[in-house]
Amino acid sequence: MELLDAVKKRYSCRAYQDKPVDETTLNKILDVARLAPSAKNFQDWRFVVVTDKQTRAELSIAAANQAFVAQAPVVIACCSTINHWMRCGQPTGSIDVAIAMEHIALAAVSLGLATCWIGSFFPDEVRKILHIPTHIHVVELLTLGWPADKQPEMKRLPLDAIVCREKWAF
Ligand SMILES: Cc1cc2nc3c(=O)[nH]c(=O)nc-3n(C[C@H](O)[C@H](O)[C@H](O)COP(=O)(O)O)c2cc1C
Repeated sequence: MELLDAVKKRYSCRAYQDKPVDETTLNKILDVARLAPSAKNFQDWRFVVVTDKQTRAELSIAAANQAFVAQAPVVIACCSTINHWMRCGQPTGSIDVAIAMEHIALAAVSLGLATCWIGSFFPDEVRKILHIPTHIHVVELLTLGWPADKQPEMKRLPLDAIVCREKWAF
C-alpha cells in the first residue's frame, strides 16, 4: 500500500475481531518502529507488547475502563526511558515514542490491521500491571488488531485553518 493511502485509511479502531495477530505480522509491524527518527538518534522507545487476555483486561481497567482495550488482541505499552529536554523546551522521549507509534500505526494499516492510540490511562496502574519501573515514562498505550468496524468519515480542519505562510497569521 502506498504511504499516502495508509495515512488516509488510518483511523482509531475501537472494535476488533476475535482473531490473534500472528507473530510474523506483529514483528513486521513492530520492526518499523525502529526506523523512526529520534532526537540525537536516542531511539528512546521501548515497547511492552501484551497479548495475554487477563493482562489486557487489567490494562483496559487501567485505561479508564475502555472496554475495547481488552478486546484488542494486542495492546502495546509505549515507553520512554530518558529525561532529556531539547533546547526548544520539548522533551525528547514522548516525541520519539509518538513518532515510532505512528510508524507502527501506518504499518498496521498497510497490512490490513488497525490501531488506536490510548492516552486516557493511569500510568501507575499500567506500571504495576506490567512491572515497569517507576522511572520509566509510560507515554501511551496502543491497541492493535484486525478491525471489526469500518472507517468513519474523517473530521479534520481545512488546510487554511492550520497553515499560514511566512508569518503567524492565526
Ligand atoms: C495522543 C492521543 C491519545 C488518544 N487517546 C485516546 C483514548 O484514550 N481513547 C480513545 O478511544 N481514543 C484516543 N485517541 C484517538 C483520538 O480520539 C482520535 O485519533 C481522534 O479523534 C481522531 O480520529 P481518528 O484517529 O479516527 O482519525 C487518542 C489519540 C491520540 C493521538
